[in-house]
Amino acid sequence: MKHTSVAMVAVAAVMFSAGYVVAQATPKPPSNDWLLEAPNDVERFKLLQRYLRGFDQPMWEVGYRWESVHDALTRNNFEAAVYHWEKIRTTIENGFLKRPARRANAEAIFINSGVYEQVKKGFESKDRKQAWAAFTAARTACMSCHDAEKMGHMNNQRIIQTLTAPPT
Ligand code: HEC
Repeated sequence: MKHTSVAMVAVAAVMFSAGYVVAQATPKPPSNDWLLEAPNDVERFKLLQRYLRGFDQPMWEVGYRWESVHDALTRNNFEAAVYHWEKIRTTIENGFLKRPARRANAEAIFINSGVYEQVKKGFESKDRKQAWAAFTAARTACMSCHDAEKMGHMNNQRIIQTLTAPPT
């Protein structure tokens, strides 16, 4: 009797551990908890880092806001032009947070060169002529940075080629 119960416990233990191994080996079905189900924080940060992309995604936002600047100036909505212009700076800074190699040209050509402030003042003047002159100066800076970053092909796109100051 005693022997039988020992044997039963042993069999149960084997069955339990076998089941455990099977449970470990079976991958979880896909779920929406892509971060919560990552095995640890390092893997979570890797997933986040991949998801947050590089310089392309901030530039995509810059492009969208650049169209909004043009639209705002067309409507003499200078406040909106300033708003989008400030967001463009934030977005470029967040871009070189992720891709530090882009920082030198972004600062030299765009932020520290004085262009950023000069353009902002132009929009804030609420004077159509000054505001559009500022737009042209900004556009030149965008294109210069693309050239400096060996991304000159970015300048041959609708957003750069067709969004220009209206003829005076
Ligand atoms: C650091 C200098 C720099 C400045 C300043 C800059 N760009 Fe860019 N831009 C880049 C780089 C680099 C890329 C390519 C991104 C990549 O390959 O990850 C790019 C890509 C783009 C794209 C394509 C994004 C996409 O993937 O759809 C647009 C649109 C764009 N820039 C617009 C602008 C506009 C408008 C301005 C000015 C308001 C501007 N950029 C200022 C460096 C710059």
